[in-house]
Amino acid sequence: MTEMKITECITVVRGSVVEMKADAIVNAANNSLLGGGGVDGAIHRAAGPELLAECRTLHGCATGDAKITKAYNISNAKYIIHTVGPVYSGTKEDPELLASCYTRSLDLALQHGCGSIAFPGISTGVYGYPLDEAANVSLEAVSGWMNAHPDAGIRVYFCCFRETEMEAYRRGIKE
Ligand code: AR6
Repeated sequence: MTEMKITECITVVRGSVVEMKADAIVNAANNSLLGGGGVDGAIHRAAGPELLAECRTLHGCATGDAKITKAYNISNAKYIIHTVGPVYSGTKEDPELLASCYTRSLDLALQHGCGSIAFPGISTGVYGYPLDEAANVSLEAVSGWMNAHPDAGIRVYFCCFRETEMEAYRRGIKE
């Protein structure tokens, strides 16, 4: 199964967020916003050097916050929303900061008139967030935001680059 519809507006899909057709795609960035490995590297490679030039003007981003840029050479999206997840530490701040990445990104998407947004599994790569916990935090954060913004009309895609991420969502939905 490569697609799971959770609600009318929330879908889990298998694939790279970089290739998703959505008004905004989300980058799992670091505090500098000046690029890195993982999905961050893939997004900067696909968007081209103008993205780095715009990111330099943003003066970084706090953990749990998000900033928006144009998508440049990524023609399947209009905007890139750069958010910085927590490095997993096993403390109670982890889920708060991770949830904030999702809700701050949705706030920016709404402010910019986006009808759709595609997320990668923020913090679940290099930053070491356990997949099951991260899937649950993301589902709760996005559902809560949707309930608080019933007229937003934004479609949300959770993009699973790895099959193991998809399995974590599958378990999260059954709970
Ligand atoms: N294309 C699409 N998705 C990917 C790719 C890719 N090439 N590589 C990984 N993912 P990660 P983090 C997915 O590690 O844990 C960077 O260096 C991956 O399966 O990219 O938030 C930043 O600059 C997972 O779902 O981000 C930061 O320093 C998701 O992307 C740090 O890594 C996030 O994995 C952020 O770590």
